[in-house]
Amino acid sequence: MTEPQSPRRILEFLVAAGVDIIVGDEPVNRLQPPPPPAMPERGPEAPAATRTAAAANPAQPAAPARPAPAAPDDAIMQARLQARSAGSLEELATIMAAFDGCALKATASRLVFADGNPQGRVMIIGEAPGREEDETGRPFVGRAGQLLDKMLKAVGLDRSHVYIANVVPWRPPGNRTPTPQEVAICLPFIHRQIELAAPDILLTMGAPATQNLTGRKDGILRLRGQWFEVEVGQNRIPTLATLHPAYLLRQPGQKALAWRDLRALKARLAAE
Ligand code: URA
Repeated sequence: MTEPQSPRRILEFLVAAGVDIIVGDEPVNRLQPPPPPAMPERGPEAPAATRTAAAANPAQPAAPARPAPAAPDDAIMQARLQARSAGSLEELATIMAAFDGCALKATASRLVFADGNPQGRVMIIGEAPGREEDETGRPFVGRAGQLLDKMLKAVGLDRSHVYIANVVPWRPPGNRTPTPQEVAICLPFIHRQIELAAPDILLTMGAPATQNLTGRKDGILRLRGQWFEVEVGQNRIPTLATLHPAYLLRQPGQKALAWRDLRALKARLAAE
């Protein structure tokens, strides 16, 4: 027979497996099917079938009511409705800060909405905030952000010329890749953010931002350097894909490709 594991052994296992965050005070059994929908009221005395387990067994107290997390489809629908209702970037930031449909909000310190100049002709989009961004509330302020600043400087740009945001505005725990579901919930917000900022050109950095905004599935080494069109509202925005600065920090030999992309961006800005 297997020995029951002590809580200490279980904790040691979790730490060794890389768990570095506790999401809630109470454990949640996410494998348990959701409770059936409440039956409609039928009069003063509910039928036996609708009586609660607590009533049937008074020794067992009813579980405290906790708000059920929105089902993913509901959360996506809510995100769409709420994003659409924003009439300005300020309103959008307020709506997003109050939105509870994305589970990442629970583990992040704050919303990381944007940085730079919302009137800039270029909007740069990354994947999701990291630790420094989560601490400061500003995108691209860590090592990758410092490299981004150098890349911009190399073509005569800085944060006063560009507006910067991420596909997902809350830091995923431990900087893991956001799940497709988390991205789907956040996409209506970044689409509306692009629509309201109305840049002349979008620059997507890295595979997740490029694939999620253009719908292309190829790897970033194939997609980079190519121009796409991203449709937001009534507009089609010319979009250049490039390498993510975090990737360039790991693969500095690829920097020449990113410089080439930024020169193409600069040339297009000058031509328009
Ligand atoms: N990487 C991103 O994609 N976005 C940030 O804001 C920081 C690092």
